[in-house]
Amino acid sequence: MIRKAVIPAAGLGTRFLPATKSMPKEMLPIIDIPTIQYVVQEAVDSGIEDILIISGKGKRAIEDHFDRNFELEARLEEKEDQAWYNEMRRLADMANVHFVRQKEANGLGDAIYYARHHVGNEPFAVLLGDTIMDSVIPVTQQLVDTYEQYGGSVIAVEQVPADKVNRYGIVGGTSMSDTIKELTTLVEKPAVESAPSNLAIAGRYILTPEIFQAIEQTPKGKNNEIQLTDSLLLLLKRENIYSHLIEGKRHDIGNKLDFLKTTVEFALKRKEFAAPFRKFLEELLATQEV
Ligand code: UTP
Repeated sequence: MIRKAVIPAAGLGTRFLPATKSMPKEMLPIIDIPTIQYVVQEAVDSGIEDILIISGKGKRAIEDHFDRNFELEARLEEKEDQAWYNEMRRLADMANVHFVRQKEANGLGDAIYYARHHVGNEPFAVLLGDTIMDSVIPVTQQLVDTYEQYGGSVIAVEQVPADKVNRYGIVGGTSMSDTIKELTTLVEKPAVESAPSNLAIAGRYILTPEIFQAIEQTPKGKNNEIQLTDSLLLLLKRENIYSHLIEGKRHDIGNKLDFLKTTVEFALKRKEFAAPFRKFLEELLATQEV
């Protein structure tokens, strides 16, 4: 059983400057919901209520978002705005959210290492705080199911076009089913010719606690940071790791173009905006010179 989730949210967000100079990228909203709220909701929808967010400098807004705000609640009560009052209470109570601060943004592996005391000796989920999954079955739930069947660490993967494999961590291994592979290798940003597959690591994991020892033994890698993929490669020498091809769509909010696309896609799915927003887009495109 997976009881705990770790959400790394301490990165500097350099791909989204200047917005992220003083504001956490994990708080960038898709319409009106901050990215990290979607991520916490996915964990909760997967049956996980103990959540540790790896926070850092300039990330206080995340803590406030999952805390009570008495002044706001009082004002909403005064206005008899019961719906928003209830939503604000739900948000503060949706999970047991804990925080630990990564002192320096030394990479994803280093961020996860900060979770070792909280996690203890049990497997746990990792959900990147800047990545939203749009799926029918929560992607973390899909990984939990695979973990329960196979028993080792599980990495979510998605198919990417062959000419883009050099942008991602790519896995290779033996197929156990249509969606699951037992891994033999993991390569960070391989050249197209040498890539072991077109399956890219997609921002969700179930990790066994042995990952912490692997992280300790991982030297600094790309960008002088402790890369989680390097630690997973060490872990792979000691135990089985599986990849799970997700059913759903990944949105990387830390990338400006993906952020834009996600906003438009989600707006077209929202009941109150779908029709007028579609009309607006059609009119806009009709009048734009391409
Ligand atoms: P990214 O690599 O996308 O985050 O990490 P980044 O370093 O902030 O991004 P850029 O490249 O500079 O724009 C994925 C997730 O891991 C967290 C980030 O906050 C993000 O949610 N992370 C990354 C940490 O918690 N600590 C780190 O040292 C690095």
